[in-house]
Amino acid sequence: MRASQRRSLDPTLRSIESQEFENSLREKIVGQEEGIHALVDLYQVFCAGMCPSGRPVGNLLFLGPTGSGKTRIVEAGAEILFGDLRAVIKVDCAEFQHSHEIAKLIGSPPGYLGHRETHPLITQEELEKYHTEQLKLSFLLFDEIEKASNSLWQLLLAMLDKATLTLGDNRRVDLSQVVIFMTSNLGGGEITELMSGGMGFVQPVDKRADTLDGKVTRTAQEAARRKFSPEFMNRLDKVVVFHPLRPVQLEQILEIELSMVQRRVLDTAKGQFLFRVTPTARNFLLREGTDLKYGARHLKRAIERHIVYPLANLLATSQVHLGDLLCIDWDEREQRLVFDKEGEGAVLPVAPPAAAAAAGAQSAKATGGKPAEAPPAIAARKAKAPITVPLSPLPAPASRRKNES
Ligand SMILES: Nc1ncnc2c1ncn2[C@@H]1O[C@H](COP(=O)(O)OP(=O)(O)OP(=O)(O)O)[C@@H](O)[C@H]1O
Ligand SMILES: [Mg+2]
Repeated sequence: MRASQRRSLDPTLRSIESQEFENSLREKIVGQEEGIHALVDLYQVFCAGMCPSGRPVGNLLFLGPTGSGKTRIVEAGAEILFGDLRAVIKVDCAEFQHSHEIAKLIGSPPGYLGHRETHPLITQEELEKYHTEQLKLSFLLFDEIEKASNSLWQLLLAMLDKATLTLGDNRRVDLSQVVIFMTSNLGGGEITELMSGGMGFVQPVDKRADTLDGKVTRTAQEAARRKFSPEFMNRLDKVVVFHPLRPVQLEQILEIELSMVQRRVLDTAKGQFLFRVTPTARNFLLREGTDLKYGARHLKRAIERHIVYPLANLLATSQVHLGDLLCIDWDEREQRLVFDKEGEGAVLPVAPPAAAAAAGAQSAKATGGKPAEAPPAIAARKAKAPITVPLSPLPAPASRRKNES
């Protein structure tokens, strides 16, 4: 190329697939920028076919307090890429604290008692279960690695380094198309202390967010270095520290979780209805669900107790029906959530023209509180009343659709 033809390139530009992956992750994961970047970077390297040979696609260690999204981000990635959040082989290291329990993971050698009954958790078939022509990638997750026994450590070190695992019956499992995620909440207690100043909630006003973030990162990394051997730390591509969730992030997670409850309702056989939650009711859920120590786990529990259980009661006792629109509000006098039916025929599996007009009028009345965000298939129709609901499962994610065509 002559000098006059020289063009400057943009090495920060990502492919459309990676951009889509990143956007979808951001819809499911609040904050945790570093975690999102780590996943998207690996995916881009994989898509470009530039993975190192003889090693896993990536070895990532996620540190940080409980309920901050370490496991969720892996499940969300699987949901987006493979169309199923269960498309992750999960190894709960707490279950493998004793050396003899390793047989549950890799199967026992032939001849041993129970050889035929022990089915290894990690096999080539299991890893390739969600492979498609376009995407031959798998996720393997080791949760709570600080609880792993010595023999599990030895296995793990070999997997991280050589991308192979030898099963009890000597079969070899190839891990070169696998991302190995490991999580640990080492240092979680100290981080909680840091955030609260030892007395309860996050104090974002009197502590500068950036210095606090730096301290959190250092605390977690130091705890990991104290606990894990240098040979383990050396095999990692990246150590990502997940940060405690702040009130505004919990608010966003509340949105996501409520939309997931709405989806669950729409997935029921015949009780499909819509609900909206008023701002005061949302505030109540946030008050109930904010606990620095347990992160978003506590919020999820509050939603189950105060929204899901009552909705299940209403459905089971036929107080709500297909197509109803409910309003969930906070009653200040009674100091509790109240559930009112605001409309009928607001959600219809099939919308004949006459019913459509009626339903449109009903749903238009639903103002004053945000509706729990309906899944995309429904949201798309929200602009034009009536709201119709597909009775079949909702569309698979973009990557999956592509594979199926
Ligand atoms: N950053 C986040 N964005 C969206 N949802 C989140 C986030 N963090 C937590 N959640 C919600 O809280 C739940 C619990 O989070 P998760 O299982 O990822 O915690 P964890 O960090 O793995 O904690 P542990 O160390 O106890 O395993 C998730 O299923 C998800 O619904
Ligand atoms: Mg977890």
